[in-house]
Amino acid sequence: MKKNGLFIVFEGPEGSGKSTQAKLLYKYLRNKNYDVVLTREPGGTKVAEMIREILLHKDIKIFPLTELLLYESARAQHIQEIIKPSLLKGKIVISDRFSDASLVYQGYARGLGMKFVKKINDIVVKDTYPDITFILDVTPEEGLARIKNRTKKKFDRLENENIEFHKKIRRGYLKLAKNKENFYLISTEGRIPQKVHKEIIKVLVKKFSL
Ligand code: TMP
Repeated sequence: MKKNGLFIVFEGPEGSGKSTQAKLLYKYLRNKNYDVVLTREPGGTKVAEMIREILLHKDIKIFPLTELLLYESARAQHIQEIIKPSLLKGKIVISDRFSDASLVYQGYARGLGMKFVKKINDIVVKDTYPDITFILDVTPEEGLARIKNRTKKKFDRLENENIEFHKKIRRGYLKLAKNKENFYLISTEGRIPQKVHKEIIKVLVKKFSL
């Protein structure tokens, strides 16, 4: 794909501050008059948001392979409908999660295998991989406490998993951050969002002169 846009992704365990950072970055770039799209996975389009409702529904059992294929279906729609056209138009796309979440959640934590999930990711994502990925790191204890305090809402199907699952997710992301280029691991543990935001801007200015 010949694109002149920029694709930025935020990943990390539950409550790591991805959504906050994605929003802060969106506002920052908008203020600088960039054409920016803020989106999320699973979601970002009507169909993908409907699939999200199934995936996060609390009272249903979904088998790991079904779960993976639902995330990938939502992703296929998201890429075709939003991400690819926006990048081709030269926009900056910021996504709150993308294909590495499948590697970590379904591949590593659910046990389908990261290699297997990478194959499916490659089929779905093709040449639309991110230019840069920020992995925000937090312990499950602090991350889950943030969610509880923030929303007072009931945990969704994945947030509701046991602490061992969340520890595994964190390990999966740390593993991933070690092995890849264009990955920036940033700790949000005990830090205020503005400080993390500044660190992110510094990386982007250096790498892409934004
Ligand atoms: P969010 O709550 O961070 O928006 O993400 C929704 C949940 O879906 C979160 O628990 C992570 C999970 N997830 C996967 O398990 N696999 C995926 O591929 C994606 C994108 C999200």
